[in-house]
Amino acid sequence: MWAIEAISLRKEYGRTVAVADLNLQVRQGEVFGFLGANGAGKTTTVKMLLGLVRPSAGQAFVLGRRPGDPAAMAHIGFLPEHFRFHPWLTAADFLDYHARMYSMPAEERRRRIPELLERVGLAGWERTRLAKFSKGMLQRLGLAQALLNHPRVVFLDEPTSGLDPLGRREVREIIRQLRDAGVTVFLNSHMLGEVEAVCDRVGIIRQGELVRVGTLEELAGGTLQVEIRAQGLTPELTAGLARWGRVVRQEGNDRVLLEAAKEEALPAIASWLVENGARLYALTPCRRPLEDLFVQIVEGER
Ligand SMILES: Nc1ncnc2c1ncn2[C@@H]1O[C@H](COP(=O)(O)OP(=O)(O)OP(=O)(O)O)[C@@H](O)[C@H]1O
Ligand SMILES: [Mg+2]
Repeated sequence: MWAIEAISLRKEYGRTVAVADLNLQVRQGEVFGFLGANGAGKTTTVKMLLGLVRPSAGQAFVLGRRPGDPAAMAHIGFLPEHFRFHPWLTAADFLDYHARMYSMPAEERRRRIPELLERVGLAGWERTRLAKFSKGMLQRLGLAQALLNHPRVVFLDEPTSGLDPLGRREVREIIRQLRDAGVTVFLNSHMLGEVEAVCDRVGIIRQGELVRVGTLEELAGGTLQVEIRAQGLTPELTAGLARWGRVVRQEGNDRVLLEAAKEEALPAIASWLVENGARLYALTPCRRPLEDLFVQIVEGER
């Protein structure tokens, strides 16, 4: 059974096709990054998966059940894109209110709420009214709310919007902990670095259409970019590297970037350079940055 499954899921708003016949499966325990430009259809997809928006066509299942089915909702957490908070509530009241909606017993609420506030970096703020919270603090509180019920599937719609670099790192850490605990995470984002850092698999949606899906390696086409730093990189040596990839940049005499190289070629490249008199300081493989790929997919195919 998939944690999340969409079958020809579609949403039209008048003439706008917000989501076009989306087919997607997410495994249990997977961190899935759903990437797309503004207006691509990310939020609409999540809302359909949660039963908050009725699809124009197609089907969806979360934990094997129809969106909105209470039996599944009890195991689902959701951080909406625009979370509304009652400013007169304190942080603890707010979480307590949500915990009651999950019918969480009083004793568990007393334990769970401080633990969650601590986890999202808000320890000590229990008694403060939300009117006094900053944007990033509210976002952290929203995340705590999404984790209240020990969910098996969590939908996070732009969880790091409004967060400072420290907060973003904390969210990444929380996502990793969730994955280690076997929780499925569906992450809507256009923060590519964040997706790159935490996601097992990525889907890219463009104008409602899922145009790519796969691991970062698969999306990069199975090749690497290799940065080579060496003394004595003569033009002949640099030219010779072309048999393993595309030489794209040479800075001075000691640095070369080799694109579209295969990982298996790395030992051969190293020994060939050394045998031909180069003094090798670094041979650094890096995957093609997701940003390049994203721009190419979103712009290039237009
Ligand atoms: N309630 C609605 N009524 C009419 N059109 C809508 C509605 N909700 C979304 N849309 C349209 O559907 C498309 C997809 O919107 P959606 O909010 O899903 O995008 P998104 O990928 O989440 O964008 P963002 O990154 O800006 O959050 C957009 O063209 C948007 O204008
Ligand atoms: Mg959105």
